[in-house]
Amino acid sequence: PTMEEFIVGMPKAELHVHLEGTLEPSLHRKLAARNSINIPATSDNVSGNSNGYLFHDLTSFLAVYYPNMEVLLTAEDFFDLAFAYLSKAYSQNVVHAEMFFDPQAHTSRGVSFSTVITGFRQAIVKAERELGMSASLIMCFLRDMDPGFAMATLTEALPYKDWIVGVGLDSDERDNPPSKFASVFARAKKEGWLVTCHCDIDQPNSIAHIRQVLRDIGVDRIDHGTNIVEDETLVQLVKERGIGLTCCPVSNSVVTNDFKGREIVQLLRQGVKVTINSDDPAYFRGYMNENMMKMAKDADVTKGELIRLQKNAFEISWISERKKEKFI
Ligand code: HPA
Ligand code: ZN
Repeated sequence: PTMEEFIVGMPKAELHVHLEGTLEPSLHRKLAARNSINIPATSDNVSGNSNGYLFHDLTSFLAVYYPNMEVLLTAEDFFDLAFAYLSKAYSQNVVHAEMFFDPQAHTSRGVSFSTVITGFRQAIVKAERELGMSASLIMCFLRDMDPGFAMATLTEALPYKDWIVGVGLDSDERDNPPSKFASVFARAKKEGWLVTCHCDIDQPNSIAHIRQVLRDIGVDRIDHGTNIVEDETLVQLVKERGIGLTCCPVSNSVVTNDFKGREIVQLLRQGVKVTINSDDPAYFRGYMNENMMKMAKDADVTKGELIRLQKNAFEISWISERKKEKFI
């Protein structure tokens, strides 16, 4: 098979995708119409070409990303969003997906936590039943908001504990170190949730933040995190603990002009459990297959290494050991 056929045919797991980041311009317009919300003509596209969203860094991305969520109001809206992503992922042979969601981006504008999670949960149940996929939810806290709001969100989520596999940390990392949320994550662990944190690639304090998530928070995974290449002791530490990294090459190339292919390959060859993911595929214009293709084309990754990347994903996934055996 050609490289593309090989990638398309491979059963894949996705571990780093923000459900709000799967809002395609077409669904955005459809939900706006359904909810009678006026959206600016420029909301999908800053430049006037009809290909979708456009921006050049994390700040300009987040400035489009959060306002676009205003079209998400009812459980049906959240259901449609998640089911559209799951159908797309299924069409790319993604057989398991762990999906981030940002409850605070919705509760802060008056949408209830139960509306959000009920819609997402119904989409997962339908995908499991009708497509035979497996999928779960990871609840993220917004790091540019108050830790008290994060803790209140955690409490609100407790009645839905079994619908959430773990918790994460996302949004604007600048001046928002992981340690700010140490007590929130300690509580999450006490409640039995697994833990991951974004450590973005373009942060001046990246190494300090990675040390915090490893030493103070005690994460089970790191989202992005490729900056560990700068520090051999951190590379050894994540290897010893079997901590995986969820890397997002297409996303990297949009927010920094560097897809970090070299770093991802170096870590892979050093035995770190790195994985390939899509992050915000509707915005960055690349789902799983496009991200895998980018690694093959621009980082010269071999077919054997592509298999290793997907084995890593199933190994570091948060599915039960019994289910894991089926995949690996
Ligand atoms: N970085 C930080 N927060 C985010 C992102 C991202 O790429 N996508 C959605 N929330
Ligand atoms: Zn992300």
